Amino acid sequence: MTTHRMLRFGAFLAGTGGNMASWRHPNAIADAAINLDYYRWLTKRAEAAKLDFAFFGDGLYISEKSHPNFLNRFEPLTLLAALAMETAHIGLAATLSTTYTDPYTVARQFASIDHISKGRAGWNIVTSPLEGSALNYSRPEHPEHDLRYRMADEYLEVAKGLWDSWEADAFVRDKARGRFIDASKMHRLNHRGEFYSVQGPLNISRSPQGRPVLIQAGSSEAGKSFAARHADAVFTGGASLADGARFYQDVKQRAARFGRAPEEIMIMPGCGPIVGSTMAEAEAKYEEIANLVSIEDALNYLGRYFNDIDFTQYDLDAPFPDLGDFGRNGWESTTDRIKELARAENLTLRQMALRSTTTKHAFIGTPEYVADTMQAWFEAGAADGFMLTGAVLPDGLIDFIDHVLPILQARGLFRTEYEAATLHGNLGLPIPANRYAMREAVR
Ligand SMILES: Cc1cc2nc3c(=O)[nH]c(=O)nc-3n(C[C@H](O)[C@H](O)[C@H](O)COP(=O)(O)O)c2cc1C
Repeated sequence: MTTHRMLRFGAFLAGTGGNMASWRHPNAIADAAINLDYYRWLTKRAEAAKLDFAFFGDGLYISEKSHPNFLNRFEPLTLLAALAMETAHIGLAATLSTTYTDPYTVARQFASIDHISKGRAGWNIVTSPLEGSALNYSRPEHPEHDLRYRMADEYLEVAKGLWDSWEADAFVRDKARGRFIDASKMHRLNHRGEFYSVQGPLNISRSPQGRPVLIQAGSSEAGKSFAARHADAVFTGGASLADGARFYQDVKQRAARFGRAPEEIMIMPGCGPIVGSTMAEAEAKYEEIANLVSIEDALNYLGRYFNDIDFTQYDLDAPFPDLGDFGRNGWESTTDRIKELARAENLTLRQMALRSTTTKHAFIGTPEYVADTMQAWFEAGAADGFMLTGAVLPDGLIDFIDHVLPILQARGLFRTEYEAATLHGNLGLPIPANRYAMREAVR
């Protein structure tokens, strides 16, 4: 086991990458988001590099304006099951919405993935920002922002209860005595709440981790409180070290109010390193990526955060339009940040759109420079690790693995071997105890 704090890395494998036009990059595999061979290869590369987990996003509504990787992609849990068979150590995390699923189904699905992967499952809990999702799920309307988080809170109570349905040794399977289970170790939840009514028990035994590692992505007030209560890891935007440090302190203090220790909740800003052998080469790579994007693509990308608003109705070279509260019911924290940035830097709509598709972030430079920057964030209390969100894949991730990671390893900031068999173990988190077994233990 490691005794000192180390960086954690999640590899956000989003098809051809986060950039709207990444599929056009010369090295991109244009059908990556629906190409199992590609994901097998890239996940194995991430595993060979000893990264903590592979991560898959998701969404429940598309239009012709959506990011190309969203138009045609795998359902994430199905993909995790396939990748579990191809790998043995790396964690496997995927996004599932609490707003458009039932806790019984999802608790069962993640317990299955945890069994199939032998303890490597992670769940990125989202509340679904896209209003159009309601149209695909027979709902009259998309629940408003804070209500979604209230529902999610109860949802997690239910899911955690269901994951405790069976104590670890409940299935005795004693052939001689004809005894399959020890019924005293089976527990009905009998939950009746504001949004959910679930009896239980779950029809699957306790999985190796007890439950998946819980990841949360969403940075509003309601989002941060939800994360502080439930999440093992928080995936956040990651604008600057100062902003990162504020967010980090904020979430850790909120977690303390729920009786949690700071190290029980990891803060992982998104970060898409662009690496070159010189600063000029890294800058040139950034420019190459930025120039892939047409202004139409950029407007569509930005519009997605604002419920697919048609930005072409505004003057491209006038100041970013005053949208009032519009957009807050979806991506509240993200749209707040966009409006604030446009105001603070007096950006035009064109500048804001291009900036949003190809962020000029702090992690562009030589391998040493990127490693130094990561170390600075880590040591300043702005990050416990990073979600690697390559603007263009596979290049963004492979460059990081081949050139930056060895520097971090040489500095003792990242592992050279997996320490444990489970994702909880590799993240330095204890396997959650079953609440009923705990009760036994204190008797
Ligand atoms: C870094 C980050 C990644 C996210 N990834 C997803 C995703 O894959 N799928 C999804 O439906 N929502 C995703 N979301 C949306 C959030 O779950 C949330 O619904 C949205 O950000 C609004 O909540 P907030 O105002 O608390 O940020 C993500 C949000 C952030 C900040």
